[in-house]
Amino acid sequence: MEKILSVNNLEQKFDLNRGILDKIKFRNGRFIKEERIVNAVNDISFDIKQREVFSLVGESGCGKSTTARTIIKLIEPKGGTVKFKGNNITNISGNEMLKYRKKMQMIFQDPYASLNPRQKVIDILVEPMLFHKVANNLQEAREKALDILEKVGLRPEQATRYPHQFSGGQRQRIGIARALAVEPEFIIADEPVSALDVSIQAQILNLLMELKDEFNFSYLFIAHDLSVVKHISDNLGVMYLGKIVEKGSKEHIFNNSLHPYTKALFSAIPRLSGTNLRKSKGIEGEIPSPISLPSGCFFHERCPYMKPICREVMPEEKEVEKDHFVLCHLY
Ligand SMILES: Nc1ncnc2c1ncn2[C@@H]1O[C@H](COP(=O)(O)OP(=O)(O)OP(=O)(O)O)[C@@H](O)[C@H]1O
Ligand SMILES: [Mg+2]
Repeated sequence: MEKILSVNNLEQKFDLNRGILDKIKFRNGRFIKEERIVNAVNDISFDIKQREVFSLVGESGCGKSTTARTIIKLIEPKGGTVKFKGNNITNISGNEMLKYRKKMQMIFQDPYASLNPRQKVIDILVEPMLFHKVANNLQEAREKALDILEKVGLRPEQATRYPHQFSGGQRQRIGIARALAVEPEFIIADEPVSALDVSIQAQILNLLMELKDEFNFSYLFIAHDLSVVKHISDNLGVMYLGKIVEKGSKEHIFNNSLHPYTKALFSAIPRLSGTNLRKSKGIEGEIPSPISLPSGCFFHERCPYMKPICREVMPEEKEVEKDHFVLCHLY
């Protein structure tokens, strides 16, 4: 099947130094140059095929949102390439990017922060429709907007209300409707349910999957919790400190996970035992700082299977079985 998105060796860094003087530090009686760079995304590659759901999972701060924002060029990549349907969009101008912005829409974790509180729901939808010319005039845009609201489970009379007049789940429906309004082909959903009650999460996930079937979308789905993405993903990438340490099909990751970090993520999923919701043994230690990355394998300090080589050498990506890749010296 044709690829909708192809990410190769993507890198993103944030420079925390405001100017050259920031880099000069006085230590032990001498001046030294000290750079403070956040290495948020460190050489990651993955492909998403048409109509596929690819999920990125990993702990807070591992670079999931930065990857998403770099793909749609809200921030310019510092290295690597992004291709959308075979077109290299890595270095195109803001103007050229507009046509891709329409095709690639984003749904955010916090629907309230991403909706304009002073706009009525109908206008939140109509504005991008007119901007991206998916409707020829206001009348047509309004009709389309009402259709979309119905698809996401909102009633026509709710169209003239403001975002604060809705519940969290309904607001996320508005966020989804806004993404649909410009008729995208590819949707990035950055933790779209993590701000919602557990009872509402399933409804929103189901809605996203129904829309996928109806409109043939492809998704990049971001979550910090494997249990959220289990049912919806075709393929997954597990991220740690800005790297994808394991990627493969849902079956590979859930039935035959290889990387010690992926295994640790599974043991961190709360399990129901009797009537108690208990957290089983998770991962020891803290995530190292992305400002000073560890030597060798980024996970070695927390890894129960650490060998001497892990401290020295970053492992190369290995294809352990067909389309199942792991970044670990154990394999
Ligand atoms: N604009 C920025 N300036 C400096 N550092 C940043 C910036 N944006 C993100 N970072 C840093 O980059 C790293 C990755 O952040 P990112 O938001 O991508 O993580 P995440 O995986 O989405 O986490 P979460 O699950 O909490 O949303 C973090 O260390 C973060 O502090
Ligand atoms: Mg994030």
